[in-house]
Amino acid sequence: MRGDMSVVRLWLVQLLVNFLWSVMFFALRSPLAGLITLLMLDVLVFTYIIYAAARSSIAAWLFAPYFIWLLFATYLNGYVYRFNSSSVEVSRATAATTDKFTPNKSQVAMNYSIPQLRYADDVLMPAMSSETIEYHYGKHFQTYVDNLNRLVVGTPYEGMNVENIVLRAEEGPLFNNAAQVYNHALFFDELTPSQTPMPVRLEQRIIRDFGSVESFWERFSMAAASLFGSGWTWLVEDRDGELSIISTSNADTPLRYGYSPLLTIDVWEHAYYIDYRNRRAEFIKNFRNIIDWERVDNRLKKDVV
Ligand SMILES: [Fe+2]
Repeated sequence: MRGDMSVVRLWLVQLLVNFLWSVMFFALRSPLAGLITLLMLDVLVFTYIIYAAARSSIAAWLFAPYFIWLLFATYLNGYVYRFNSSSVEVSRATAATTDKFTPNKSQVAMNYSIPQLRYADDVLMPAMSSETIEYHYGKHFQTYVDNLNRLVVGTPYEGMNVENIVLRAEEGPLFNNAAQVYNHALFFDELTPSQTPMPVRLEQRIIRDFGSVESFWERFSMAAASLFGSGWTWLVEDRDGELSIISTSNADTPLRYGYSPLLTIDVWEHAYYIDYRNRRAEFIKNFRNIIDWERVDNRLKKDVV
């Protein structure tokens, strides 16, 4: 009788842990807590089966399908934790910007969408015309989003947010389109028709690492002007909080190299050809007048000077 009660208690405990897992995974949407709970549940049910087998092998075998189902659930929970966890390190501002591209966890893929501009399409002139916005934002950026939605279907990256795809995908069409979505989201988010002075925190960091704001801009614009072919020039922050300027070719992005992007300029021809034809240097010079420095400052991760 005492043995029977122990089996019953064990069964009730595993029911409780099963309920806890449902709460962790589905209600609280925590894949890590869900995984830990499921592993506990696996051990409990396995123990239960061993316990039951000592009394009746038929009773034990009846629970084998349940145990197999639990192992499968553990695998799926682990998969979600591994590939769709929010623990991947990205900058605060980057995450805020690209949250617009993060699929709702209850949704399937095919739902990356282009973010709304924070400004009208004709207010960045003369630095950037409405026609450039119409083509660059409305057609090129939209095409990258459409391609991403199409290419991600049936891949292990389906349902992941854009940062995770950029960090994990192998080089190829899927990576290229995801990275271009990521890069363009940052680019269009950092522009403003009503520029305000650079925040003191950002100014101090730039002076610390480049000597002066003018020295920084000279190096940044030189890097952008001399970038061969298509690509992006970036002001980035490394894991120690040091700022530097890097350029990346085509769709490549500093996120892949452990940097947090702070500011970027798109120097693909489609970014400036309508307004400037081949005069990239003039585009870079005017781009300086539409940078939202508050936005750039908000992307700083390390609060060190
Ligand atoms: Fe572009």
